[in-house]
Amino acid sequence: MKKLLVLTSGGDAPGMNAALRAVVRAGIYRGFEVFGCSSGYYGLVNQDIFPLLSKNVANIIQRGGTLLKTDRCKAFRQQTVRAKCIEFLQQQGIEHIVVIGGDGSFRGAALLHREGGLNVLGIPATIDNDIIGTDYTIGFNTAANTALNAIDKVRDTASSHDRHFLIEVMGRSSGFLAVEVGIAGGAELILTPEFPMPIEQITQTFTDETKRKKLSKIVIVAEADSQPGRSVKIAQQLRELTQTEFKVCILGHTQRGGSPMVTDRRIGSQMGELAVRALDEGQTNMMTAIQHGELVLTVFPPHDNSGRRLSDKDILNLNTILSL
Ligand code: F6P
Repeated sequence: MKKLLVLTSGGDAPGMNAALRAVVRAGIYRGFEVFGCSSGYYGLVNQDIFPLLSKNVANIIQRGGTLLKTDRCKAFRQQTVRAKCIEFLQQQGIEHIVVIGGDGSFRGAALLHREGGLNVLGIPATIDNDIIGTDYTIGFNTAANTALNAIDKVRDTASSHDRHFLIEVMGRSSGFLAVEVGIAGGAELILTPEFPMPIEQITQTFTDETKRKKLSKIVIVAEADSQPGRSVKIAQQLRELTQTEFKVCILGHTQRGGSPMVTDRRIGSQMGELAVRALDEGQTNMMTAIQHGELVLTVFPPHDNSGRRLSDKDILNLNTILSL
């Protein structure tokens, strides 16, 4: 019987469970024996795989996180470790693998294909929406809504006290999440890694005499390079330069959890089914993607890429107009 292994890897993203459920059930539908392993590639390194039946993925579509658990496995970067995993998979008769995760996870999958001839298919899932080759990654919409909810709440207290806030969102090295919630939350300013703004320019934005004086302001700050806390530094600088207090609110890992929104459940389900169908039809070393609104298969991002970046400055200009 043809055998398929599925794993979730990298940071968890709401909707991973929907994709997992779809992989398991589409796999069974197509005559695969389906297996899972825990905590991403660690499950392979520890040679700990287990069968996944239809009932094992019942009642998970509405749950955040991932049933399989996830992790970033440093050991898997070593060729000797991967060779042992490949040998193990060969012993088990597993030739097909679906990896649900981000960039780093796909690098691992591509190496399993290159070094072990395994048939691999990736499903992009990260709240950052920063994978080259797809316009959408599972989890982004839910994370954006979670952040937006928090921003709306901060807005209530900010306007009640006539206070200013810096609200920091995740995004690794990209500003997609920041822009999404900044526009939707009516932010006065959005700071992204792609279009860095010197502190003098930020200050000028707030001291411009020609602009309407606002009693409370919300600035959305994208974390930089996975390092939370950038907003604390900016608040200190703003206090020194303008003698104005900016309170800081770092949304952190709240953005990763919670019940997935409808988009992440639907796209997760569609991508899960497509990944299995593609493997069954002989495709390999590819990932599912959304391009121009269509669900497609595409090549993995280049091995040495550092993620998709915002290139459209118009969206920031739009925010400048709307926050007048
Ligand atoms: O890639 C998803 C993400 O949440 C990033 O936005 C963030 O920089 C990083 O993961 C945080 O990673 P960890 O959960 O390991 O702290």
